[in-house]
Amino acid sequence: MATGLSSKRILLLMDTLRTTEPEAMELVLREEGYREDRQLKRTLETLGHEVFAFGLGDSIEDLLRVVRRVRPDIVFNQCEAFAGDRSLEPQVAGLFDLLGLPYTGASPRCLELCADKGLTKKILSYHRVRVPAFAVSTARRPMRRSGGLRFPVIVKPLEFEASEGIAQSSFASNWEEARARVEYLHGKFGCDVILEEYVEGRELYVSLLAEARPQVFALRELVFGAWPEGKPRIATYQAKWNDDYRKKWGIRSDYARSLDPKVEQRILQVGKKIASLFELRGPARVDLRLTEEGEIVFLEANPNPCLYRGEDFASAAERSGLDYPALLDRILQQAWRRRRPLPAILRVA
Ligand SMILES: Nc1ncnc2c1ncn2[C@@H]1O[C@H](COP(=O)(O)OP(=O)(O)O)[C@@H](O)[C@H]1O
Ligand SMILES: [Mg+2]
Repeated sequence: MATGLSSKRILLLMDTLRTTEPEAMELVLREEGYREDRQLKRTLETLGHEVFAFGLGDSIEDLLRVVRRVRPDIVFNQCEAFAGDRSLEPQVAGLFDLLGLPYTGASPRCLELCADKGLTKKILSYHRVRVPAFAVSTARRPMRRSGGLRFPVIVKPLEFEASEGIAQSSFASNWEEARARVEYLHGKFGCDVILEEYVEGRELYVSLLAEARPQVFALRELVFGAWPEGKPRIATYQAKWNDDYRKKWGIRSDYARSLDPKVEQRILQVGKKIASLFELRGPARVDLRLTEEGEIVFLEANPNPCLYRGEDFASAAERSGLDYPALLDRILQQAWRRRRPLPAILRVA
């Protein structure tokens, strides 16, 4: 690629349960379940970079050691957890800020903010972006009454991702059903819980490369092809991760079809506005619902969305003219522009 970033040393950071050194990671990446990660690494290599995949388990010392050894120019941050704990994702990114190493994707602050499904909605309602009304039930002080919530609602863990804890029974038509789900989540995960008014509508994903002038990609939609009429369409854990279930109900991601171009533009604009309000950086996905009445309602912002080839984000970029190598190159270039003069850890020989 003529305008691509010149050859760099890249630490491809992934999360594993135990430290997995680059040499061992090579073997892991050959396994069947790692096809997409392998593809990502190979693509970075075809761009002319030297790539060291490292599995961060539960040892920061091991990470520092590998950074000293590899002396990367950039960290390609694919790490979503530390020691299996997703709530520590922001701190991992923060570590690279302390080390002075440029890394791809979102800042700790943005990761922290977007993890909180309540706080994000408070901020957006201040900025007049439509959000579902909600209430939070904390594990310490569980909600005893429905307050002013209108039913139906959807009951979700406040800070989980990937639809963990979200099933069809998360949909509640009345307070009794909602309370049962709230209690279940408090009991099973010990987590705080959010109850949101259920927004009926098409589920649309705005993918973008967020920078000073963000580039938005083709709009994607989660389609429920063979879903029973009248049953709430929710991207549950099953709907996201169980291939048989997806096939059975015709659940798939696709480009958003037959949308009025004006409506589509409005949706992309809302996505951009949210990206800027949350200071999203690099690859990001904003999830919205479009109601029958044409209202655009915020569901969730995902900093560092899945970058696998064939998933929503890369497909959206591809449709907008950025093939996979070009997309990864852009992501790297953006990280590289944020570099600081001398990474402290690399100054010590
Ligand atoms: N207020 C809501 N109204 C309608 N559907 C919702 C609402 N909140 C969540 N959902 C459904 O549940 C899915 C997962 O919710 P989300 O908040 O994105 O959690 P996660 O972070 O686990 O992906 C959404 O993609 C959507 O299908
Ligand atoms: Mg989501």
